[in-house]
Amino acid sequence: MIPTKFPDNFLWGGATAANQLEGAYQTAGKGLSIADALPGGQDRFKIVNQPDFNWQIDSNKYSYPNHRGIDHYHHFKEDIALFAEMGFKCYRFSIAWSRIFPQGDETSPNEKGLQFYDQVIAECLRYQIEPVITLSHYEMPLNLVTKYGGWKNRQLIEFFDRYARVVLQRYAPQVKYWMTFNEINSALNIPVMGQGLVAAQGADAMVNRYQAWHNQFVAGAQAVAYAHQQRRDLMIGCMLLYATTYAYDANPVNQLAALKENQAMNQFCGDVQVRGHYPSYTRSLMQSYGVNYDDLEITATDLQTLAANPVDYIGFSYYMSSAINVTDPDLAKVNGNLVHGVANPFLEASAWGWQIDPMGLRIALNELNDRYEKPVFVVENGLGAVDHPDAQHLVQDDYRIKYLRSHIEALRGAISDGVNLMGYTPWGCIDLVSASTGQMSKRYGFIYVDLDDQGQGSGRRYKKASFDWYQRVIASNGAEI
Ligand code: BG6
Repeated sequence: MIPTKFPDNFLWGGATAANQLEGAYQTAGKGLSIADALPGGQDRFKIVNQPDFNWQIDSNKYSYPNHRGIDHYHHFKEDIALFAEMGFKCYRFSIAWSRIFPQGDETSPNEKGLQFYDQVIAECLRYQIEPVITLSHYEMPLNLVTKYGGWKNRQLIEFFDRYARVVLQRYAPQVKYWMTFNEINSALNIPVMGQGLVAAQGADAMVNRYQAWHNQFVAGAQAVAYAHQQRRDLMIGCMLLYATTYAYDANPVNQLAALKENQAMNQFCGDVQVRGHYPSYTRSLMQSYGVNYDDLEITATDLQTLAANPVDYIGFSYYMSSAINVTDPDLAKVNGNLVHGVANPFLEASAWGWQIDPMGLRIALNELNDRYEKPVFVVENGLGAVDHPDAQHLVQDDYRIKYLRSHIEALRGAISDGVNLMGYTPWGCIDLVSASTGQMSKRYGFIYVDLDDQGQGSGRRYKKASFDWYQRVIASNGAEI
């Protein structure tokens, strides 16, 4: 019999990242992270890639929305209570590396930073909410970029290892679900957030991005090894940005281009982290970016570490799909979740141009589950939109409900296809600062936070219409959507 229901232990929840909501960016010994030095606004990636960009915080020139976030640092109890009220079974959040190792290269951790996460985890467990922790979500200590040049430097493996061991040792007894690097593959197009590479750190040379990936693969595999030593039933996954990528038409030229784009963007990092070795197309892929595999520093021990420590599951974000056409240069290009492509005439797009495609999620789930034969976990999904609260602060966000409903339908479809799906954590379950644009006005949450793009507002939390809706979804285990 084909199951059409969500499994009883399905992990319904929501997802956030430290740098986008905590604020308190210098509290209790926290060091600066790269996110703290990213100017707010739609041009943030252009600004950091100017040749003279030096990572100095210049508040006269730019705003820095991540400094305040939504001040979750001081409101986490209230926020987690709201998640519990929605019925969350799990809560995905990240630990800010720079709270634990403020400069990244110290030999002992900042105890006060750890005490903050002691409390966050305790608060989740009080409500029987399973924490799902990302070790690194676009928030490496800034010093590791300015002093060491980001992840292209092999020394970062050691620094990350020290950090990962500290938090895994402390929290593994209470926390079963983990992830290594958020959207590790996003560096193909935007290497600043994941790898700490901007033009001044050599981002334009693709060899640096592949070396950075290799160093992250090894660091991630070491974390997997250590995590399993701490707790046998612990599950630690990779985290991929997955934008289902179609050929624009049946022209074989476009079909091959889509296949190559899938290898480059959607598959390469997962292939290494899940299968534990570099895939057969590695050399040709690298060559297409002007990189010679033999120029990378990859040791025999590294390859053994990768082979011995594949991840346990595939966590991925899914917001949109993409289409590839190399035969018609006049087709309109689209923006997206750090991906490129052409406009798909069958799809509508969000106000930020991200093409909405729930069926693409069902396809993604099938592709990933078939390719790796390991459980999959949708750890981000959602619609960034401008909300308009009424006089009572209610946001009637039917557009968000519509988006999420159609994607939950796609999850159900994938389960009936046979996909082994662990859970679903929609992104930004409480409004937070956008990663790609640094805006507060690009909102994803079930909970409205009264702050604007300039950080002005009361900071108060209000339930949106989608709050009650998601509560019903969870209470009915996905039967009432
Ligand atoms: C993913 C990231 O790319 O998408 C999140 O993991 C991010 O950090 C989310 O916030 C939505 O993107 P954005 O740019 O709308 O915030």
